[in-house]
Amino acid sequence: MVFICLMAAATKALSGKVNSDVRVMEVRSSTFKAAVYAHDVYIPIAPYVVSRAQALRNMEINLETYRTQVDLARQQVQRLRRAGRFELYGQEEYQFNTDVAYGPDGKFLAKYHKYNLYNEGQFDTPSNPEHAFFDTPFGRVGLATCFDILFREPIVSLVEEFNVTIIAFPTAWMDALPLLPAIGFHSSFARAHGVNLLAANIQLPLFKFDGSGLYAPDGARAFYYSKRMSPKLLVASMDVVRSPQGASSLTITPQQSVKHFFASRSSQLDEVFGVKKARGPIGDHSIADNNSTFESELFNDMYTFQALVGSSGKLQMCQGKLCCYIEYQIDTTTLNSVDEELFAFGAFDGLHTYDGNYYMQNCVLVKCADTKKKKSCGSLTTTASTVFTKISLRGEFQTKYVYPQVILSDDHDQLALTRPEAWTFDGKALETSASFSSTVLNAILLGRDYSRDKYW
Ligand SMILES: *[C@@H]1O[C@H](CO)[C@@H](O)[C@H](O)[C@H]1NC(C)=O
Ligand SMILES: *[C@@H]1O[C@H](CO)[C@@H](O)[C@H](O)[C@H]1NC(C)=O
Ligand SMILES: *[C@@H]1O[C@H](CO)[C@@H](O)[C@H](O)[C@H]1NC(C)=O
Repeated sequence: MVFICLMAAATKALSGKVNSDVRVMEVRSSTFKAAVYAHDVYIPIAPYVVSRAQALRNMEINLETYRTQVDLARQQVQRLRRAGRFELYGQEEYQFNTDVAYGPDGKFLAKYHKYNLYNEGQFDTPSNPEHAFFDTPFGRVGLATCFDILFREPIVSLVEEFNVTIIAFPTAWMDALPLLPAIGFHSSFARAHGVNLLAANIQLPLFKFDGSGLYAPDGARAFYYSKRMSPKLLVASMDVVRSPQGASSLTITPQQSVKHFFASRSSQLDEVFGVKKARGPIGDHSIADNNSTFESELFNDMYTFQALVGSSGKLQMCQGKLCCYIEYQIDTTTLNSVDEELFAFGAFDGLHTYDGNYYMQNCVLVKCADTKKKKSCGSLTTTASTVFTKISLRGEFQTKYVYPQVILSDDHDQLALTRPEAWTFDGKALETSASFSSTVLNAILLGRDYSRDKYW
């Protein structure tokens, strides 16, 4: 499975008057309208290095679409801002993958050169990460691009040091299930950091580029995921974030979190660690025994898993310094023998080295691709019919940067997000609401320990 971020192009529109200098503006409104366009972008066939004139002609094809979409957005949003992409320098100079932001009056506001390139031989990396932002009456908007969202610089610093409350995020993101589907991971950034993230992905599902959204700290205000090649303009009302209540406000207290988990649930360790032995529709598999711990590969990393057995249970999985806990409940009335599915709960603690190097500590609930094969747990699958009525997921992380996501498989076997109120995340624990009832494909806490990242 590949996951790539190449050239992206996006148009975003925001209502409200935009200030072009960098003084902090008073945030006056309590809501604002945001828009992203999921563009079926025109990507020129190789060669990637073309003449300046040809490059401008290629860009013009996409810009024409943006003009149309900005006009359509304008009908729904009173004032707006445009952000295009690509900045071309003379041939002797550098060529960056660039975001550009303009105000409603067409005035240039900010530009950003992508820092974390992803197999983009045609572009140069800026020598230092740039923190590009501008102020509006509805908050400070920072710019970041695609692969940037996996690293501390510049995107986490934009939030923590530069007080950005809105991230404008153009991307060309290939779904990398189960860990990094666009709608799941991008929305988890907004949840983890308590900011609004406006993600404009390109819409080329044939090549796995799929999933755009307007993500708020409590969930998606709008998202688009479709196997059809049809582009789409998303517009939604967002709440202004005054001060982010995200990862930066947390401290790590692993010992307390474990005690809390046990105290609130059971004093009987056997019960906490044990799996309910009752044979439900889930778990009638040949692999179900009293030691169902196994290893399987997920995104090229080896996870330690345990299969879910029975229609409810509590599991603990540990790997390295990470321990993960889950309590789950399944609606048995929705299943028949044909629908039997294998789910597994796993942990991973280590340096991920495939398609980039970054340190992760992950707790994952995944639907396994093949009901009869444990080794398929962690492999690509997009369908699920098992209805979960409760998921309580937490981990003992060595980092405070924990990105939570719940991915559903909808009636058309397409990926979907829940409504915001379906689950909460307090920085440590993901808890579904009392009325939760959804066909869950994955529930994941992705921990990023930026301090242990290695570059070579
Ligand atoms: C961000 O906010 C903090 C706390 O209010 C302040 O000290 C700091 O100067 C701000 N940084 C920027 C870049 O505005
Ligand atoms: C459970 O494990 C014990 C020893 O660890 C073994 O003797 C027993 O046969 C196992 N039971 C099942 C059902 O696999
Ligand atoms: C369970 O299986 C795992 C992996 O095969 C093994 O490492 C572990 O020792 C086993 N535990 C018991 C109690 O048999």
